Parts: sequence; structure tokens; C-alpha cells
Amino acid sequence: MTSRTTPRSPGTAARRPVGTVTRGTTNPNRLRRMDRWIAAAHGAELRRVADPVAVDLGYGAAPWTAVELLARLRSVAPHARVVGVEIDPARVAAARPYERDGLVFRHGGFEVPLAGRPSLIRAANVLRQYDEGEVAGVWERLCARLAPADPASGSRGGLLVEGTCDEIGRRHVWVALGPEGPRTVTFATRLGSLDRPSDLAERLPKALIHRNVSGEPVHAFLRDFDRAWAAAAPYASYGARQRWMRAVRDLTADWPVVDGPVRWRQGEVTVAWGALAPLG
Ligand SMILES: C[S@@+](CC[C@H](N)C(=O)[O-])C[C@H]1O[C@@H](n2cnc3c(N)ncnc32)[C@H](O)[C@@H]1O
Repeated sequence: MTSRTTPRSPGTAARRPVGTVTRGTTNPNRLRRMDRWIAAAHGAELRRVADPVAVDLGYGAAPWTAVELLARLRSVAPHARVVGVEIDPARVAAARPYERDGLVFRHGGFEVPLAGRPSLIRAANVLRQYDEGEVAGVWERLCARLAPADPASGSRGGLLVEGTCDEIGRRHVWVALGPEGPRTVTFATRLGSLDRPSDLAERLPKALIHRNVSGEPVHAFLRDFDRAWAAAAPYASYGARQRWMRAVRDLTADWPVVDGPVRWRQGEVTVAWGALAPLG
């Protein structure tokens, strides 16, 4: 299925969006965990630039996630703007009445039809419907559209956040990538809904979901996470949050966890991509 994301010949590329229309399932507040993480992890970068532009790529049958992304980004970067990009023209037409200060909708695909290079591209529940073999090419294409790093100013450049969640956003896993490529994987969950951390396996992004098999790093990580969760069972009497925090703290002995208790309290943990990347 690589033809779906293969660049088209010059002359047609500008007119024909790259990608395929897929199911438009979305829900209000579905992406709150991802939005909050982006605001925390990328807020300083968004404040650094004069005109911070964020793309909600593949916002779906209704524009809720783009509207909410704008509000959450503006809470940390008051000048942020959001461009909702959808490959289905009918969904763009349906979203247009919701345009407002800082929010517009555009027809397009993985080419990201903007004049400049955005500070953020968020693609939630989009690649899940593509083939695993297409992911690397799409990541490369989207990363090349991000604002570049500027070491002189301390900027690491734009961020691509690509991942998957359940229909109401209780379980989420996403990969964050910079202009240079993948950086981290974040697991985020409503703790009250969790039997064990490997419940999140069904929401792994496309790059990892077929790799949750013995011998692959992501499988070993979820196995160790379940063991740490079981060992932390005595903390359950203080609540699922305390149990999660204890389990994550134990995980740090063997896995490169890159965040700390402030995020763990939210039911999150972020791990360096290199530790979970598929073999081969
Ligand atoms: C399942 S919906 C996700 C909606 C929203 N992001 C969410 O998580 O609730 C996926 C949407 O991505 C759109 N899509 C698929 N490929 C795309 C592409 N290459 N560029 C832009 N949109 C795309 C589909 O048309 C569909 O509306």
C-alpha cells in the first residue's frame, strides 16, 4: 500500500493531498491527555517563536479536537494558532463554520499544505488505519515539514506527536518526533480504568502495535511494567495513582524513563524511543 504515501509527480502534488480518506471517528475531549502533555512538553518551544503554528492533521468528522487543541495551547502560548488539516473535503466544509481567531481548516494530507513550517504537527488516530510499512515514510515526510532546530537560540525545533487512543481517550500511547526523528514514547491512562499497564498495548501506535511480541523491546517493556505493577500492589490501598508512581519508579532501574513524578501523577510515563524501537 506504499503508493498511498508515495509523492506524486510534480504539478499534481500541490493539488492532490497525500494519503487516503479513512474513518472519521472522533469525540469531544478525546485527546485531552495528549493536549495536556503537548502543552507541558512543548509549551516553552511554542512561546519561543513569534508565530507558533500547530497542525491538527486528520481531525476527523467533526472539528472538536482542533478547537480543544487551540484552547489548551493558548493556555501556555497565548499567540498559538491551529490549522486543522483533513484529507476529506466534506469534513473540511463541515468544520469551516467553527473557524475563529487562531483556528482555520484546510484540505490536505501528509504534504501539510501550509506556507511555513509548523511548530507542532499532531496526528492522532490517523496512521492506525494505514499499513505498518507506510509509517516510516510518513514520519519522515512530516518531520521534514517541522520547524528546524536552531541551536543558537536553544530551540530543538518543531514536534510531531503521532499516536492512538480509545474512543473516549482513557488510554493513549503516542510517539514524539523532532526534525531529527523519533524521540520518545508516552503511555497515558486514566488510572482508575487500568487492570494492568499492558492494557495499553491495544492502543500502541502503528509503529509498535505489531511488535508487541516476544523478543521485541516494547513487549519486554510492557512485561516489566506489569511485573512492577504487581510488585507495587501494596500501594493500591493508597489509590491507583500511588501504585502507578511506585511501579514507574521501579521501572526507572532498567528503562530510560525521561520524565518524573509530576507527569507520573497524571497517569503518564515517557520513555526514550531508542529503548522501545522495533528490532530490524
Ligand atoms: C479516526 S479519525 C481521527 C480524528 C481525530 N484525530 C481523533 O483522534 O479523534 C482519522 C481522520 O484522519 C483523516 N486522514 C487520514 N489520512 C489523512 C492524511 N493523510 N491527511 C489528513 N487527514 C487524514 C481521515 O480522513 C479521518 O478523518
